[in-house]
Amino acid sequence: MYPHSLIDLSELNANQVQDILSLADDIKKDPKRYFGACEGKILATLFYEPSTRTQMSFQTAMLRLGGETIGFDNPMNSSVSKGESLADTIRIVSGYADILAMRHPFEGAAKAASLYAKCPIINAGDGGHLHPTQTLTDLVTIFGEKHTVSGLTIGMCGDLKNGRTVHSLVKSLCKNNNKFVFISTPELGLPQYILNLLEASGCKCEFVTSLEEAIPELDVLYMTRIQKERFASEKLYEEQKNVYVLDAKKMLRAKADLIVLHPLPRVDEITYEVDEDPRALYFKQAACGVYARMALIMKMLEGEQGKDKLEGISGERCKNPNCITSIEKYLPPSYKKDANASVETMLCEYCEH
Ligand code: CP
Repeated sequence: MYPHSLIDLSELNANQVQDILSLADDIKKDPKRYFGACEGKILATLFYEPSTRTQMSFQTAMLRLGGETIGFDNPMNSSVSKGESLADTIRIVSGYADILAMRHPFEGAAKAASLYAKCPIINAGDGGHLHPTQTLTDLVTIFGEKHTVSGLTIGMCGDLKNGRTVHSLVKSLCKNNNKFVFISTPELGLPQYILNLLEASGCKCEFVTSLEEAIPELDVLYMTRIQKERFASEKLYEEQKNVYVLDAKKMLRAKADLIVLHPLPRVDEITYEVDEDPRALYFKQAACGVYARMALIMKMLEGEQGKDKLEGISGERCKNPNCITSIEKYLPPSYKKDANASVETMLCEYCEH
């Protein structure tokens, strides 16, 4: 049985993830065969933060399944602008739609929304926390090219601190005996809870600062944008932007069968000349997002109905200023044990800080 909501891809077991990848692969081969699979169903897309790919690929996915879509892409055009809480918006819209996809700038917003949603809700990105449907897109792309998601050497480069796509992808691929090479400045390294997870997984990991030196050994290079919107000041962003730029010269050092992925949008971190290289797969990857989301919507609509619940223990309010509990004050604080930490550590159940 699929869970009521998809906040984190880790909530699905390996068979469920494989089922979605297999279904996405079938859909990719013959998308027309699936038209009508969601006839009469409505997807609501609630985007509190800008998006091109995620929002439009969710909408395309539902339309290609024969369903319909409602929603907003700017909360200021909804009653959020009049002060409506996240909980109330979700209560209302989940009464109109059969399934929700929500993006929000605050970490843990999807978990918070799932407590009030009467229908399944899918996390379409919650601040710098997670982006599970991008991970499904990434897995569909890697599987399509490499015919496996195991035993690969995977480089992840750029903003590993704020890049929600990185966090979700690491959580998934660390279960599959892959080797990781993390390429970042010290300021933009992975959050502690992801480092704990990696250590517990037993995966081989390298932490380096040079893309040029790392590239020759990689099977997959996952480039990321420096997430300007997550920085406390323009000055701090300026210090980090353009540290890593993938260009044709660096590609000369890479394996012939390297694949270059990027969740997009890109700014300056991949030069346009690389687009012509057959190893640059980021536009193909974005197209795979439709198949991945079609498969996920179909599976989620088979899942449980009813609201999600908190499972942790209560405590003080989370101190992460980017946690959804910092702006939606009615949310009850809740903490769970970090099963991967070597010393007892409690994580906020919403944002995992
Ligand atoms: N990859 C991704 O999430 O892109 P958007 O921000 O355009 O949705």
